[in-house]
Amino acid sequence: TGCITIDHGFLNTGSCASAITFLDGELGILRYRGYPIEQLAEKSTFIEVAYLLNWGNLPTQAELASFEKKVASYSKLPEYITRMIELFPKTAHPMAIASSVTVALSAHYPELNNPNPTKEQKDEIFALLLGQFKIITAAIQRVTTGQPLVASNPALSYTEDFMSMMGMKASKDVAKALDVLLILHADHEQNCSTSTVRVVGSSNASVFASISAGIDALWGPLHGGANQEVLEMLEEISNAGGDYKKALERAKDKNDTFKLMGFGHRVYKNFDPRAKIIKKACDTVLAQLGVKDPYLDIAKGLEQTALADDYFKSRNLYPNVDFYSGIIYRALGIPTNMFTVMFALGRMPGWLAQWKEMRETKETKISRPRQVYTGATTREYTDLGKR
Ligand code: CMC
Repeated sequence: TGCITIDHGFLNTGSCASAITFLDGELGILRYRGYPIEQLAEKSTFIEVAYLLNWGNLPTQAELASFEKKVASYSKLPEYITRMIELFPKTAHPMAIASSVTVALSAHYPELNNPNPTKEQKDEIFALLLGQFKIITAAIQRVTTGQPLVASNPALSYTEDFMSMMGMKASKDVAKALDVLLILHADHEQNCSTSTVRVVGSSNASVFASISAGIDALWGPLHGGANQEVLEMLEEISNAGGDYKKALERAKDKNDTFKLMGFGHRVYKNFDPRAKIIKKACDTVLAQLGVKDPYLDIAKGLEQTALADDYFKSRNLYPNVDFYSGIIYRALGIPTNMFTVMFALGRMPGWLAQWKEMRETKETKISRPRQVYTGATTREYTDLGKR
């Protein structure tokens, strides 16, 4: 096996070759299949971006229409999935429900658990998980907040249907802003949750198990869970009178485990291009909805002060995708504990496209890293009575 080098957190380990997403952390560049994220956010739609990620090219009008129709045709959840969502304790975190019901969907589609599906089956998996997860997200929100379910309306666009099921008022501009948020979350190369999807899938586990594991990885506060943490941090600062300088001091204190949530990124060391777009969308949505949110002022103050501070400057720490997204979700009336499910909804096409690419790459092997053993050397077993 030769010499093993440990790479904690895989800072310098490439796990695969991929043709899906390009990311340059120094220059702040993000492209899906070659298309700059800025252009996609301005001109495309989430459903078109999903198509692009999965099949590699922008669809023709006919291809897009047929794909949208196919996704929309998954307009109902299997009865037992709805029952599962309802049976969870009201205190359950929505991410726990999301992950559980996603793996539970495997029972409804036994023929799609095959790790080597046919082309038709792969297309079906992609459309069905996008369609079903939209309904799952809305159902979790409605059930956990004690509200009746709203049926899916296949005549609406993906994002408008989602907003209608969530019980949100969807002006065209606000729906566009939410659609942009989903686009910005759609893929991000080999991040923690996507790597998890690939690792689990590499054992020939089903796509449902792989995606469910990705949802679990996303839940962590250092990853997708950061969007909930940012809002809770802003809330705490606001409740304590709005002085954010204390939070900054705590984040810099190496004896304190507190971090400035929504700041820093493994790859972006200059700026996160998604955060730039989201900050703008945040101003637009709040203006559209006529919302004046004191959290936005705190967030902007925090950002400005941190960017001028030597601690953050010397470590190249900038606001990431999670810093402003929560303020938009809050303005839309989405409960804080649903924020990470919103991230999962956006990331679904990326996870699925990466899962498919992994399955279709002939070099794929089961993920099985090695270790450097640091435990005891060989010892003689002592009988229980003699210990
Ligand atoms: N607040 C204070 N210090 C920080 C922060 C922060 N948010 N982020 C990094 N640092 C410090 C860190 O303590 C270390 O300092 P030192 O060199 O003195 O030991 C230095 O900056 C380098 O950080 P790191 O933790 O080694 O970097 P990493 O690449 O392992 O971690 C990160 C990246 C995103 C996990 C981290 O920046 C972090 O915990 N941020 C807060 C959580 C967050 O916002 N996560 C969302 C990430 S973007 C969306 C997503 O992936 O889902």
